[in-house]
Amino acid sequence: MRCIDGKQIAQQVRESVQSEINALGLRPGLATILVGNNPASHVYVRNKQKACEVAGIYSEGHTLPQDVQEITLLSLIAGLNDNPKIHGILVQLPLPVHLNERRVLDAVVPSKDVDGFHYLNVGKLTANCPGFVPCTPLGVLHLLKTEKTEITGAHAVVVGRSTIVGKPMAMLLLHNHATVTICHSKTRHLDDICRQADILIAAIGKPLFIKGEHVKPGAIVIDVGINRLPDGRLVGDVDFATVYEVASAITPVPGGVGPMTIAMLLLNTLQSAKWAMGKQ
Ligand code: GUN
Repeated sequence: MRCIDGKQIAQQVRESVQSEINALGLRPGLATILVGNNPASHVYVRNKQKACEVAGIYSEGHTLPQDVQEITLLSLIAGLNDNPKIHGILVQLPLPVHLNERRVLDAVVPSKDVDGFHYLNVGKLTANCPGFVPCTPLGVLHLLKTEKTEITGAHAVVVGRSTIVGKPMAMLLLHNHATVTICHSKTRHLDDICRQADILIAAIGKPLFIKGEHVKPGAIVIDVGINRLPDGRLVGDVDFATVYEVASAITPVPGGVGPMTIAMLLLNTLQSAKWAMGKQ
């Protein structure tokens, strides 16, 4: 029944990051690396850079051609690892298929891995130790907490098992004492499991996949999907119109999780600069 305003919640985070940076006495720096011509990736990276500038973060964009050799990308990352102006390094995904994504992500020094994709940070999250947490699940958690959702003891169902969203999301919910079920494309009785969720996170990448009939009355539904329909419309993984009638709260697409991802990137970059200065 309630629509969660991700844009407004993200704006509050961005303002608090900005004022903390003003007081910090060091300008945090983020380097973005974009490989190839994926139009959506170009838009995402541009939005991240703009948000940095507004918040007072130095931003440096590197664009490489679609057919770049892996060694060229790795040596760019090595230079940024050693550059004291840079506190965060973001390699926009997906990468062209000829590049080994895992090797590239693990080339980023873990202390500048503001996306939380390096295997050391993946491990730290699993072990519930301080490290960088991927921005999208971190943003979802922030939304749930801002909405004062009761996470402890709740049944949270995460639909999707990606390294970027599904798996880290499940870890965060587990550390916040939810009972977590991870579902995916091979899950049997997916509908029945979704209907048991107090908190339902849709991160499957299938347009309008979750309908009102899959949602328990009063559940909170978070839509991580961004899908472009053939007619050009941008929709999530959740069928907003039917789920809105059943859920107690729901995030829209656009204007839900998307803005939170960017806000968390700024927060992680600020955190990295603070760690570099020896602060908490
Ligand atoms: N592609 C889709 N989501 C993300 C993200 O959060 N970070 C990066 N680097 N690439 C992405």
